[in-house]
Amino acid sequence: MPQKDSPCHKRTKEELTDFIKKLHLQAVETAEERLPLYLKVGLKDATRILDVGCGSGVVTRDIARLTKGTVIGIDGSLDMLNVARNILKEYVNVRLCLGEAHRLPFQKETFDLVTCNLLFMWVDDPQAVINEMTRVVKPGGTILASLEPDYGGKIHWPEHPTVDPLFAGEAIRKKQGDPHIGRKLRNFFVRAGLQTKVGIGNSRIWSCEEDKDYYLHARDFYIKVMSDAGLTNEEIDRWEYDYLKSLDEGIQLSFFPQFYAIGKKPLSL
Ligand SMILES: C[S@@+](CC[C@H](N)C(=O)[O-])C[C@H]1O[C@@H](n2cnc3c(N)ncnc32)[C@H](O)[C@@H]1O
Repeated sequence: MPQKDSPCHKRTKEELTDFIKKLHLQAVETAEERLPLYLKVGLKDATRILDVGCGSGVVTRDIARLTKGTVIGIDGSLDMLNVARNILKEYVNVRLCLGEAHRLPFQKETFDLVTCNLLFMWVDDPQAVINEMTRVVKPGGTILASLEPDYGGKIHWPEHPTVDPLFAGEAIRKKQGDPHIGRKLRNFFVRAGLQTKVGIGNSRIWSCEEDKDYYLHARDFYIKVMSDAGLTNEEIDRWEYDYLKSLDEGIQLSFFPQFYAIGKKPLSL
């Protein structure tokens, strides 16, 4: 099945560099939520682990650090895998391969644990992907979708009528991603025949200082989204002034839910 033009595909060199920077920032930002999930699903004692949509490898590196098992990272983008090869070069327990999530190139019942992070939002057919993951995991094994966002549940105040909708999913939809994937995870996992638990990975509300710090790191990305959406430089400057002011005053509140799903494959499936 051909991949849709996700933000990781068909990018210019500059766009790819920006996107990788954003992934690295996200990996640091979400580590606090992801790492306990890895322990919860038994990563430490797993022998064979598959990380689907491993991208630039930053999240795969977190996984490799927490296990003595062999970790296979698979991704459909050669550009991303080249970055991952470099990031993971010192990790002797990691193998990387090019491949399609809708048709995983592994025999059935190969892995103890299959993981993915920020993948389902971008795939053409999430049900087909989870079915494939279920095929390659061993009976009694586990599948973890560590974080999948739901932009529809985003809360942001003070409001901005033009900019808020962009960051509440419009930009994702334009890139053919599913901004509401978080709420659908349970449905996909249950339909694959998995014993399923879902939860919200990030229940903590960040302080304004943390929000500001994140914004300043990711500023190029924010400006690009607004500029791609047709905002003038003047409008962007005005928005940024108000945005930073509300952070400096300590009054801004942002919440962006990210769901996780854990699916256990029954022994008899
Ligand atoms: C948003 S990135 C997340 C990367 C990594 N998991 C992380 O959290 O940093 C999504 C990754 O999934 C890959 N991807 C998207 N659709 C895919 C598919 N159908 N098959 C294989 N990889 C895919 C992309 O190439 C990209 O590297």
